[in-house]
Amino acid sequence: MRQQIVVGNWKMNNDLAQTESLITELKKIEKTSNAEVMVAPTFTNLFKAFNALKETTIEVIAQNMHFAENGAYTGEISASMLKSVGVKTVILGHSERRAYFNETDAMLAKKVDAALAHNMRIIFCFGEELADRKSGKHEHVVESQIEKALFHLKPDAFKQIVLAYEPVWAIGTGETASPEQAQDMHAFIRKTLSSKYGATVANSVSILYGGSVKPNNAQEIFSKPDVDGGLIGGAALNASDFFAIVNAF
Ligand code: PGA
Repeated sequence: MRQQIVVGNWKMNNDLAQTESLITELKKIEKTSNAEVMVAPTFTNLFKAFNALKETTIEVIAQNMHFAENGAYTGEISASMLKSVGVKTVILGHSERRAYFNETDAMLAKKVDAALAHNMRIIFCFGEELADRKSGKHEHVVESQIEKALFHLKPDAFKQIVLAYEPVWAIGTGETASPEQAQDMHAFIRKTLSSKYGATVANSVSILYGGSVKPNNAQEIFSKPDVDGGLIGGAALNASDFFAIVNAF
């Protein structure tokens, strides 16, 4: 069976004190599902968060990283810097990075390579915009995003990769893809993987859904056969909402 995973993406929220209090709340709640749990605080809080959660089953991961090893890239963070504070997993390709910081498929392919070179795990995000869905191009857009950033990899690399389908029109909007829309796209993603890498690889990769997942819709979305978990934004900022989603499995 594929690993179920729930990731909380805290985005640019929570200063150090707020991060510590959210972690304190998270530690009080019992996990009753088998899902793997990860949270992604902002860079300045990673070290504190890693230390505060290291005795727990919650993994602390990063929201982004640069592809270069080091050098003149003002404001950026490298894979080895993340690893030096205990981080072993990174989110890459979030739609906010693509939209506001001009991250392209080609740049993401380089980030993927850099993360893998450091033996890091990757939560790789992609998803169509509303106009793509309205014009019926959503599958084509998603296929192209996956191909351009990941299809140069060897099959073995997929042991380190988790996919996260996040339709842009559902992120932070309160509008969720219906469980059927999520299932249809996840099945399409698996078919796309299978046609390149074969069924064994395709069936082993966890595919998360992201976009306005809340305690009241998580269970139905997670019940779909190709949905292996969620990437949670807004609802991850509240410990009891987040764990209600984790425990929805
Ligand atoms: P949301 O964000 O849950 O607030 O829609 C999801 C995400 O951006 O990962």
